[in-house]
Amino acid sequence: MKQHWFPVLLFFIIGIVVTHDCIKGYYRQQEADQAFAAYQARTVVHAPWQGPGADQLPNDSLVRYGYALVVNTAYYLGPQGKVAHLNNGMNCQHCHLQGGTLPFGNNFGKVYATYPQYRPRNNALQTIYDRVNDCLERSLNGQPLDSSTHEMKAIYAYLQWLGRDVPKGVALEGTSMMKLDYLDRAANPEAGKQIYAATCQRCHGDNGQGQAGAYGGFVYPPLWGPHSYNDGAGMYRLGTLAGFVRNNMPYGVNYQHPQLSEAAAWDVAAFINSQPRPHKDQHTDWEQVAQKPVDYPFGPYADPYTEQQHKYGPFKPIQLFSPIKHNRS
Ligand code: HEC
Ligand code: HEC
Repeated sequence: MKQHWFPVLLFFIIGIVVTHDCIKGYYRQQEADQAFAAYQARTVVHAPWQGPGADQLPNDSLVRYGYALVVNTAYYLGPQGKVAHLNNGMNCQHCHLQGGTLPFGNNFGKVYATYPQYRPRNNALQTIYDRVNDCLERSLNGQPLDSSTHEMKAIYAYLQWLGRDVPKGVALEGTSMMKLDYLDRAANPEAGKQIYAATCQRCHGDNGQGQAGAYGGFVYPPLWGPHSYNDGAGMYRLGTLAGFVRNNMPYGVNYQHPQLSEAAAWDVAAFINSQPRPHKDQHTDWEQVAQKPVDYPFGPYADPYTEQQHKYGPFKPIQLFSPIKHNRS
């Protein structure tokens, strides 16, 4: 009998030891998890810049007027504007969402901190006034404002107020636009046309014309045609438009909850920028040809790629040819 007892006892002892170790391991893991959670709670999470809401505007009439001009540009400066008739009826806010405060919504978070700055497009030092006028002449396909006008002073004051707490020279995370990864293929306008019809057309119209609103402005802004941005505008570069659309459209999505895949955003951008729009003479832009961004669609170039490839991609080979110009705006 005795020799049968031994293996049973051994088995029992091993069982106890293993169970004990498991329980110890479990508690150790739980301790580690708790320690990690506590560490995370202490760590400042790297959050993208988010501007103040309209309800936080200061009691400063110039800043408030600047905000109104950004949100309701057409009312003041559009085709039937109250102050002047300067542009196509779009509002700054159509592209600089929520008054230019939304993370990755083409916001103004880095403007006051990073201008004046050298911009290779203009081959010159650009002030905030120059940059606003670039959008007035290109995105709003209109006339510039002199820096001495009440309107330009107000827009400046608003941008200054928005960026007042941003350290000088720093482009915080989430400011301006997100750069999407390049696809391995060219963006496809035909595929984009289907996406447009299914996802965008109900607001932006069957002909990209948007929906007209009061004072020559828009309820839904146009994406192409005579009242849209011209071909010298930032949105005419595919990467810029795709980055905007992916994180902000259809209206109501945001960078944390996008609806389109990145590929779909590139394709719908290719469709939109294949449609007719006003032309801007850009022969003085990008004097330093080698500085042209990968997705700048007008030659001549300092590389052997065609205008077609610079417009639709694939961009990776161009980027490999000259890596420095990757993110230039
Ligand atoms: C059709 C779209 C569109 C409209 C309308 C528009 N912008 Fe822009 N704006 C852009 C794009 C695109 C950029 C470049 C973003 C990038 O390169 O990341 C830009 C950039 C800017 C910048 C520089 C931002 C930075 O971080 O360097 C300022 C300032 C600016 N816009 C002001 C305005 C103002 C003021 C108005 C109205 C008068 C306006 N924009 C209207 C599309 C638009
Ligand atoms: C529910 C309506 C709606 C849908 C759907 C929608 N948009 Fe928009 N879109 C808007 C509104 C409204 C604005 C202007 C935002 C503002 O003024 O706050 C806008 C602005 C834009 C702009 C910048 C302004 C301009 O006219 O150039 C682009 C580009 C754009 N949308 C592209 C798209 C694309 C691409 C889709 C489909 C993937 C899409 N939108 C779907 C309502 C919509």
